[in-house]
Amino acid sequence: MGREIRVEDVEKYYRNGRQVTKAVDRVSFTVEPGEFMGVMGASGSGKTTLLNLLATVDRVTAGHIYYQDTDITELTEDELSEFRKKNLGFIFQDYNLLDTLTLEENIELAMSLQEKKKAVIRDECERMIGLLGLEAVRHAFPYQVSGGQRQRCACARAMVNHPRLLLADEPTGALDSRAAQILLSTFTKMNREMGATIFMVTHDAFSASYCSRILFLQDGKIFHELVKGKRTRREFLQEILDVLSLTGGELSDDC
Ligand SMILES: Nc1ncnc2c1ncn2[C@@H]1O[C@H](COP(=O)(O)OP(=O)(O)OP(=O)(O)O)[C@@H](O)[C@H]1O
Ligand SMILES: [Mg+2]
Repeated sequence: MGREIRVEDVEKYYRNGRQVTKAVDRVSFTVEPGEFMGVMGASGSGKTTLLNLLATVDRVTAGHIYYQDTDITELTEDELSEFRKKNLGFIFQDYNLLDTLTLEENIELAMSLQEKKKAVIRDECERMIGLLGLEAVRHAFPYQVSGGQRQRCACARAMVNHPRLLLADEPTGALDSRAAQILLSTFTKMNREMGATIFMVTHDAFSASYCSRILFLQDGKIFHELVKGKRTRREFLQEILDVLSLTGGELSDDC
C-alpha cells in the first residue's frame, strides 16, 4: 500500500487588513497508513490550522495534500463532502456538538448520515457510550454536561463510523488523567485493530507518548520530529519532555 497522506509545501496565510499571519509555513511530511501521529507546539504555532487543512474544513493558500492518490486541495465542495463522509472522523478543539440534540443523538447522527441500518447504529452507539463512560449523561444536552463529558461525546461521534483517518484536536484537553487514559487506549485500539490512521494535536506530553511519531511545530514550521520505534511509552515520554524543555516557554509549563 502507498502513502496515506502526503503534505507538500503547504502554506496557510491569514490576512487581517495589512497584517499577514503565516499560520502554516511551507510544511511537508508524509504519513504511512496506520500511523498514530502526534502534533505538538506552543499556542499559536499552527496546529489547529494544519489539522483543519488535513480535515478539508479549511483551504490551503499554497501547496498540495494527497490522500492516497487524490489531491484533496483540488476537489470541489461536493467531492470534499463525499470524501469527508467516506474517510474522516474529526474531533474539533471546541467539540462542535449540536446543542439541540442529546449526547446520544449527537453520536447517532454521525452514523445516520452514513445511511447505516438502525440496528447497526444502535449497537455501535451503545458500544461507544459504554466504552467512553457516557451512560449517565446519554440523555442530557451538551450544555447540561461537563467539558470532559462533551469531549468524550465528540470522540464517540468521531469514532462511531470507524473512519480510516481520525483527526483529533486536543482530545484530552478537558479530561482528567483516568478519562484521558481510557480515551488514548481507545485510540490505540482503533489504530491497531482497525488500522485507522490517527492524527492528534496535543499540548500534553503524556497523551503524546501514545503516538508512534510526533511532529513539533514552531511558528508554522516543523522544527523537530520524534519516532517512538521500539522504545517503551515511558522512555518515549522522557524523550518528549526533553524536546519540550529545549523549546522552553509555554509547552514545558504544562508538563
Ligand atoms: N481565522 C483566523 N484569522 C486570522 N488568524 C488566524 C485565524 N486562525 C488562526 N489564526 C492565527 O494563526 C496562527 C496559528 O493558529 P492556530 O489556531 O493554528 O494555533 P494552535 O497551534 O492551534 O494554537 P492553540 O494551541 O492555542 O490551539 C495564530 O497566530 C493565530 O492567531
Ligand atoms: Mg489549536
